[in-house]
Amino acid sequence: MATVSTGRPTMSLDLKHRPRRLRRTEAIRTLARETTLVSGNLIFPAFVTAGSGVRAPIDTMPGQFRVSIDELIRDGQELQTLGIPGINLFGYSDIKDDLGSEAANPKGLIPRAVRALKKACPDLCVQTDVALDPYTEHGHDGLVIHGEVANDETVAALCRMAVTHAEAGADWVAPSDMMDGRVGAIREALDATGFTHVGILAYSAKYASCLYGPFRGALKSTPKNGDKKTYQMDPANVREALKEIALDIAEGADVVMIKPALAYLDVIAAARARFDVPIAAYNVSGEYSMVMAAAEKGWIDADRAMLEMLTSIKRAGADMILTYFAKRAAALLRQQ
Ligand code: PBG
Repeated sequence: MATVSTGRPTMSLDLKHRPRRLRRTEAIRTLARETTLVSGNLIFPAFVTAGSGVRAPIDTMPGQFRVSIDELIRDGQELQTLGIPGINLFGYSDIKDDLGSEAANPKGLIPRAVRALKKACPDLCVQTDVALDPYTEHGHDGLVIHGEVANDETVAALCRMAVTHAEAGADWVAPSDMMDGRVGAIREALDATGFTHVGILAYSAKYASCLYGPFRGALKSTPKNGDKKTYQMDPANVREALKEIALDIAEGADVVMIKPALAYLDVIAAARARFDVPIAAYNVSGEYSMVMAAAEKGWIDADRAMLEMLTSIKRAGADMILTYFAKRAAALLRQQ
């Protein structure tokens, strides 16, 4: 029946389902929302450097810094204020040799940083990167023997590194090297030294990605020769990722990680469907810097891009997200 009084068009389809009804107001959209991003999902990756009072901007990652331990403590306090429960430490080291010896120095930068941070911010989940690349001359994650990254010798070095971090008080160690069998070996080494409570956040499906470029700029850790394709995964593979994750769970990983995040959302979703352990995703440096660069040019709204991307990573199935956006996202989420 045509009505003139409402002023509405008279055309009307006979629809039972009108999905737009659930998008009509912000209140309704909030009630119907399937995925909620909270600061409690975030882990902040931090770059630690020697000295004091240092907060050096990283060229390749606008808004990110290499910080000395005193500044790191400020970051830790800020994270707590923002409700971010985790911090993941990467060492920026000038001390490099062929064996990556500095990686397992109990008086080295990362053990000192962990001690200071756990003292100042005992409630933070302090995580440490376990891989040799910041400490090797050649820039590979492992020991190079006869021109190859040698698996089993590297695993032994990683075990020493992990125990050193545990002794300093790390809550979780995070092997990012992709050697075979390292999760089981690290679990055994931690248990044998009395660190049964220290968790392993395993980089289980870490791809050989160009999106680590800005990070390697930050740590001056670009491999001098070759690439990392003999240990990091082929971006074309997903079944192999599920195998890597299954192996890490069997070896004792507490949390498994997929890295990078955005180009690998299908891998996150497949892992979510298959496994019941917590899943982490690493929103890596390239994903961060692409947004920041486009925003600097005025081509994109950094805040909206950030929240959309982080939400998509959670929607795909990640429980926790390592992201350089952690502080910025938490500050925005607090206002909402
Ligand atoms: C190396 C390591 C890398 C990242 C974390 N650990 C780089 C690489 O594998 O070359 C990348 C993180 C990022 O890009 O944000 N062990």
